Amino acid sequence: MSRQLNEKSTPEQIRSRFDNDVERFSNLETGQTAAIDAAYCLDLIAQAATNHTPNMSHILDIGCGAGNFTLRILQQLKHNQVHVSLNDLSPNMLERASTRIASQTTGQITLLQNDIRNKDLPEKQYDCVVAAMVLHHLREEHEWSQVFQKLHTAIKPGGALWIYDLVEHDNHTLHQLAWQQYSDYLVNFKDAEYRDLVFDYIDQEDSPRPLMWQLTQLENAGFSCVDVLHKHGVCAAYCAFK
Ligand SMILES: C[S@@+](CC[C@H](N)C(=O)[O-])C[C@H]1O[C@@H](n2cnc3c(N)ncnc32)[C@H](O)[C@@H]1O
Repeated sequence: MSRQLNEKSTPEQIRSRFDNDVERFSNLETGQTAAIDAAYCLDLIAQAATNHTPNMSHILDIGCGAGNFTLRILQQLKHNQVHVSLNDLSPNMLERASTRIASQTTGQITLLQNDIRNKDLPEKQYDCVVAAMVLHHLREEHEWSQVFQKLHTAIKPGGALWIYDLVEHDNHTLHQLAWQQYSDYLVNFKDAEYRDLVFDYIDQEDSPRPLMWQLTQLENAGFSCVDVLHKHGVCAAYCAFK
């Protein structure tokens, strides 16, 4: 990746791009196919979250897109009285997510069309917070620590944060290996042209951080326990318990 943080897409550019890309995020069977093990991690997080908090009453989905993660969690639960708060920059994503989720819960659906960096959240409100393929849009270190602290405050004691995201590597050898694995995955999924397109988007839009760095930031934010569910190349599923 070559672009500096201040050369990356602005929130407005990101909103506009995702406003026009709703369909690609609306497939519950495949998840986001541009990411490695997307369908597997969708199921893994849904299973882990519902096993950990079977009686959850309030989910917050950060950068919810078309709502795949919340939908999968709601499908796994044995009850359907869950309030759902959906956050995204993109109004088109929020509209699609709320339409898809409405039939899956008798709880209230609240739409939060904000940049998560600027959104105040209530204290101890959510049992389950999901952030899938969104945190890599955060830029400076202090933005990550502020968002993790905000989420920690917003989660009820006993609740948890579930993340699936693109991650970086500090070590050059591991960095090269992970990006080669990702390249192979994308070429195998479609072709080299598609790989180049995805890599260009990532360079333009994304600023992922190393997994271990994020886990430390989560502990610093006050989470009592952090863990990794899965990692394959540049994609990882991980969690933090309050
Ligand atoms: C790659 S999509 C992932 C969607 C969904 N979580 C999924 O896994 O299917 C990222 C989503 O995050 C939203 N997003 C990006 N930056 C955001 C921010 N700072 N605050 C809130 N939402 C953001 C985008 O609009 C987009 O819908």
